[in-house]
Amino acid sequence: MFVTEHANYQNFILENMPKIIIKNINNQEVDIYDTNKSVLQHFAEAYIDWMQACGGKGRCTTCKMILHEGLQNLSPPSTAEQKFQKMDRLQPGERLACQCSLQGDILISTPQKYKLPHINYSDN
Ligand code: FES
Repeated sequence: MFVTEHANYQNFILENMPKIIIKNINNQEVDIYDTNKSVLQHFAEAYIDWMQACGGKGRCTTCKMILHEGLQNLSPPSTAEQKFQKMDRLQPGERLACQCSLQGDILISTPQKYKLPHINYSDN
């Protein structure tokens, strides 16, 4: 009885954890178990290569992602993101993967400019 209830609870938790869906990498899903980490950290843990010229320091914008759904589920723009917004290097609906964490599902794409040559994107 207890084992069944525990398994049901675990399934409930897993089904309700946020996830990242990368639309142009064949709708690849990344399950989120720690909402304190950045999106870029989740990519690394899931072995998903993502452009990051400055190493996640908020200095380059190459980790940019395009949000299709779930913008409201991301942490507020960081100081670095606000700076790039003022410089028009970050448009509405774009966020830096190294600068935000999430509390709910997001549907994103990799911008054309920052696609990596060894990945087969599904919108080529
Ligand atoms: S990796 Fe450079 S801004 Fe995110």
